[in-house]
Amino acid sequence: MAEVLFRSLHLLGALGMAAGILVAALAASSMNADRDNLDAADPAALFRKIYGLTAAAVMLSVGAGLMLWLVVGKPAAFFSNNPVFHAKIALVLVMLATLIYPAWYLCRPRPPQPMPASVLRLQKSTFPLLLIVPVLAYLMARGIGY
Ligand code: HEM
Repeated sequence: MAEVLFRSLHLLGALGMAAGILVAALAASSMNADRDNLDAADPAALFRKIYGLTAAAVMLSVGAGLMLWLVVGKPAAFFSNNPVFHAKIALVLVMLATLIYPAWYLCRPRPPQPMPASVLRLQKSTFPLLLIVPVLAYLMARGIGY
């Protein structure tokens, strides 16, 4: 029962995180393309909401993932001894690292100005990881690589 609950929370968190990452990237690139029309809007407030919700989803997914690894369900060794699981965790850490600079930059109040290309590039670099991590998760959950 607990396993089903944490599995569901893990997947919901992962979905929420993916949605937040996509929405933030779409909002940033459309604002960058149309920055003359931003006078009255407060883009930083919007990004604080998006990244706030994304951070909550990340915490839910990571928290439930740690429970699935260490506390409920299959024995921890089933995952700890699987290089596919190590690759998944490493890519999750890379993915979280790619979120930090765009989130910090976009959530600060700033005058209307072109965004640094690195912000948009880092946002897009998260996309392939969002595809690879669930594939590795699918494999390691079925013991492939163990
Ligand atoms: C530190 C972070 C994470 C940890 C410790 C973790 C751990 C785990 C564990 C132990 C399972 C296996 C559950 C089981 O079979 O009983 C799992 C499944 C899964 N994880 Fe994660 N995870 C983390 C982050 C993520 C993220 C960020 C995503 C998505 C972007 C993700 C996507 C999935 C998916 C899709 C499954 C289901 C695989 C399946 O049953 O087919 N995980 N995770």
